[in-house]
Amino acid sequence: MKGKGRLEEVARFFRQREELGAGDLYMDGLTRDEALAFVADRTGNAVPVGRSATQASSPTEAEIAPSPTPDTLDLSALDYDALRQAAMGCQRCRLARDRSNVVFSDGNPTARLMVVGEAPGANEDRTGLPFVGQAGKLLDLMLASIDLSRRDSVYICNVLKCRPPGNRDPMQDEIESCSPYLKRQIELVAPEVILAVGTFSAKLLTGASKPLGRLRGEIYSYEGVPLIVTYHPAALLRNRGWTRPAWDDLQLLRQVLDNR
Ligand code: URA
Repeated sequence: MKGKGRLEEVARFFRQREELGAGDLYMDGLTRDEALAFVADRTGNAVPVGRSATQASSPTEAEIAPSPTPDTLDLSALDYDALRQAAMGCQRCRLARDRSNVVFSDGNPTARLMVVGEAPGANEDRTGLPFVGQAGKLLDLMLASIDLSRRDSVYICNVLKCRPPGNRDPMQDEIESCSPYLKRQIELVAPEVILAVGTFSAKLLTGASKPLGRLRGEIYSYEGVPLIVTYHPAALLRNRGWTRPAWDDLQLLRQVLDNR
């Protein structure tokens, strides 16, 4: 099959994908809209594949890509909604290129406790919410063990707002590019206590470079806010021997919350 026939075949494939609920399409740097426009052009279809004429002329809100945020934007002056919006269009590092979603936060922005993790994984990138995979389930259980719930009493975010490919470790320049978002997020949420989970978050917020096992067990201060560090739930899933010290960290956290 050649030429137009082949393109119609491709168009049919896209239609099937959409019917099956696969609305997003990325092909070697082509966005879904670019790919659809490409096919529409070549098949002579005025209407992009899989959408009606009215839909085609008025994209839904979800289909409007956030406008790119200038790298020079001063985040320190933004309010919460503006900060979130800026993060949605952030292009400060290479991770912007392949993300499906910016993962800004979950939970309650007026909570007393802020949990800071490392970076989104595949599930988080897909849903736009932090800690929704296996590690997230364990985190929810850890919080529940000291009477805290994700929905009401905790605000959750990460050092990086976009997923490093293949779940590799965050790179130093990515942390540097992204940490102004976290800094402003902490100022605006103004938690009474911060819990850093995992090495990257613990090192960034304490400013120390010791391994996590030697950092935990103390109360630090981040810009005057008490800060406790503990193992990342994903690490706890791999190392059962760290369950006891993680439990002790949670008791310390409960104590700090109760004494404020
Ligand atoms: N690990 C993290 O540190 N953050 C997430 O959001 C998910 C997994």
